[in-house]
Amino acid sequence: MDRDHPQAALGVIGAGYVGLVTGVCFAHLGFDVVCMDLDQSKIDRLRRGVIPIYEPGLDELLARVRERLLFTTSYDELLDCCAIVFVAVDTPPSPAGDADLSRVERVVREVAARGGERLLVMKSTVPVGTGDRVMAQIKALGATSIGYVSNPEFLREGAAIDDVRHPDRVVVGAYEEAAGDRVAALYASLEAPIVRTTVPTAEMIKYASNAFLATKISFINEIANVCDEVGADVRTVAEGMGLDRRIGSHFLQAGIGYGGSCFPKDVQALKQLAGNSGYHFQLLNAVIEVNALQKRRLVGQLKKRLGTLRDVRVTLLGLTFKPHTDDLREASSIVLAARLRAEGATVAAYDPTILAGDDVHFPGVRIAGSALEALEGADAAVLVTEWPQFSEFDWAAGRQAMRGSVVLDGRNFLDGDAVRAAGLSYDGIGIGGTVSGPDEPPA
Ligand code: UDX
Repeated sequence: MDRDHPQAALGVIGAGYVGLVTGVCFAHLGFDVVCMDLDQSKIDRLRRGVIPIYEPGLDELLARVRERLLFTTSYDELLDCCAIVFVAVDTPPSPAGDADLSRVERVVREVAARGGERLLVMKSTVPVGTGDRVMAQIKALGATSIGYVSNPEFLREGAAIDDVRHPDRVVVGAYEEAAGDRVAALYASLEAPIVRTTVPTAEMIKYASNAFLATKISFINEIANVCDEVGADVRTVAEGMGLDRRIGSHFLQAGIGYGGSCFPKDVQALKQLAGNSGYHFQLLNAVIEVNALQKRRLVGQLKKRLGTLRDVRVTLLGLTFKPHTDDLREASSIVLAARLRAEGATVAAYDPTILAGDDVHFPGVRIAGSALEALEGADAAVLVTEWPQFSEFDWAAGRQAMRGSVVLDGRNFLDGDAVRAAGLSYDGIGIGGTVSGPDEPPA
């Protein structure tokens, strides 16, 4: 820390995904950073250089910038060093369906109680109107020297460092131009477009972006379902659509639906926000419903192949909501495993980041130590998460281990020809034109 310039460090409150990656990346840009979290064990681990989340490359980057980072559980220690404080605390869904802002409110109380001139920069995903609410709280606490800027974060898990260091845009929503200038200046070296706007507009950009991406996914999933009916291949449909620059090729991968900590929560929160404001957001209802149905379709596809699922053994390959993360929040695998078990199936699974014993999300599911072990005795294999190692899986060995011959690719990720060449059937999502049984009868 630069002890000669006592308030020059950047503060980050909340050492979760967003906070930690933000802190480490700002340290990499050359800033001194104080990261605070109330979780003592998390801070202890970070002090030892141990990253409490699974994010490729973050541990190496932390090691490189370690001397510019201070980890603490103390508000006093953070506020001694920092005038600009990023807020990156959790905003989980409340029982009423909107975001629970109690942690944000606590931060405001703690910061206000310590006095001094501060700029709170909101990184947590918060509903439109949160800035106004925080400003009212600040006013009620008499802490008028606290300013507020909305600076939403768009990082993806698994690609977080790259997303923060090379953002498509930086959004800065401010009540006062000078406050916006101070935050925009922090990003000057990134050479990303900076969208300067009001606080409610910045808050809306975050929700609208996530809701639009989720809409793209539900749209392509419905196209996939129609492809199955008419014998078209959604992969090529998506490629053909994506080449139109107005559409773009990203987020057009059909599959078993979106999960994770953001899309399900943010789409729901935007729908709720619209409803609370008297507007019925019809499109988002469909986006949510299509996403829920997509997991059930897969169960239907299995039934088509196998008839009843009673006493059938199904193996799930991949459990996390996407590859390159150990995050199971809103993962499609959780619903899928529960549905399969409800239908009477016996379920086994393998995921490179989920150990046997980590089965709180998967009661009654056998978690194996390898894909091959998970497939032992299986009637059907379902690819749930497109971990790269599954593309190299030896399906001939898989065939030997399995009792049956059904492979269902929930992400259109496997090489269907290689699977069929091993004597297995192969189905994907919306690749109706290419669905077929084994090339040769199983040995
Ligand atoms: C998302 C946003 O991308 C990010 O900008 C925001 O800050 C947080 O939410 P993340 O949840 O980490 O990031 O993952 P992302 O890569 O966006 O994937 C979300 C879900 O959509 C995953 O379950 C993924 O499998 C699914 N998905 C994504 C598809 O089903 N098809 C696609 O084409 C893309």
